[in-house]
Amino acid sequence: MHYEAAGFEIRTENAAKPVSQPSTYLRDWLLSHLAVSEALDYGCGKLRYTGYLAKVAGFVAVVDSEIQLSRVQTIAGLQTSIREFVARRWPNVRAYNVSEFSRVAPRFELALCANVLSAIPQKGPRIEAIRVVASHLNQAGVGLFTVQSRNSYFKAWASDPKARRYGDGWLVPSDGRASFYGIITRPKLERLVSEAGMHVVKSWVHGESSYVLAAGRSRVITSPNFVERRRVAAPACGDRFTRPAKSAPSRQVKEQRRGPGRDQFDERFIDR
Ligand SMILES: C[S@@+](CC[C@H](N)C(=O)[O-])C[C@H]1O[C@@H](n2cnc3c(N)ncnc32)[C@H](O)[C@@H]1O
Repeated sequence: MHYEAAGFEIRTENAAKPVSQPSTYLRDWLLSHLAVSEALDYGCGKLRYTGYLAKVAGFVAVVDSEIQLSRVQTIAGLQTSIREFVARRWPNVRAYNVSEFSRVAPRFELALCANVLSAIPQKGPRIEAIRVVASHLNQAGVGLFTVQSRNSYFKAWASDPKARRYGDGWLVPSDGRASFYGIITRPKLERLVSEAGMHVVKSWVHGESSYVLAAGRSRVITSPNFVERRRVAAPACGDRFTRPAKSAPSRQVKEQRRGPGRDQFDERFIDR
């Protein structure tokens, strides 16, 4: 996705790191998540975390700009495109550009949005990206938003005459374009997620990264990764955004919690 900041074009697809450089913490978090039927890798980049999601999910949708999905680049040591790599490697993964994804039904139980918001230079498109994720979660769905909030480059840029402050981050011009890295702290990430209409379930910092786990405002959390099954509204983990739930879950909600059976698997992939 391309953005404009201070007269520079920001090509965020160039900010994606290779599969060989995952955060081991995030990798382990994903691998320890109990199985879900459908997961989303929003802003998948070079598929750094898709393989781990594909291990815990029956189906994974990866979403990024068309240029990121179709250009030939090095993915896991191969000269290929995301679309080709996914089609050949993973039968349970499908790639969508942002426009295609807008026609996909809200059905995801787990969404990952890793290092996407910090690549976006303005608040409006950050909120919009979170809303897209939120609008694709199912009744029990949760999204994990993560950004790197600290790193040694941030300090180096402060004394680099080429780098300049823009919004909450740094613009680093090169060849008429620029790269951007927003510094989004945990409280700021919570605020963004909340302003986008999601409910912050839990937030934490590990190493140099901030994490916010969030659900839709009126949704019911049934993710087995929680210590106990509980309503979104039940305060826990220092959650400041909780609201009490009004009534017991309806039969429809209970059915949605259980999810469709395996025999319905293919049918649910039909886009609206
Ligand atoms: C820094 S990379 C992160 C990639 C991957 N999630 C990771 O952690 O390795 C940011 C990715 O987000 C994509 N992106 C930027 N804005 C987006 C948006 N509004 N919707 C979907 N993807 C977006 C970019 O094209 C890029 O591939």
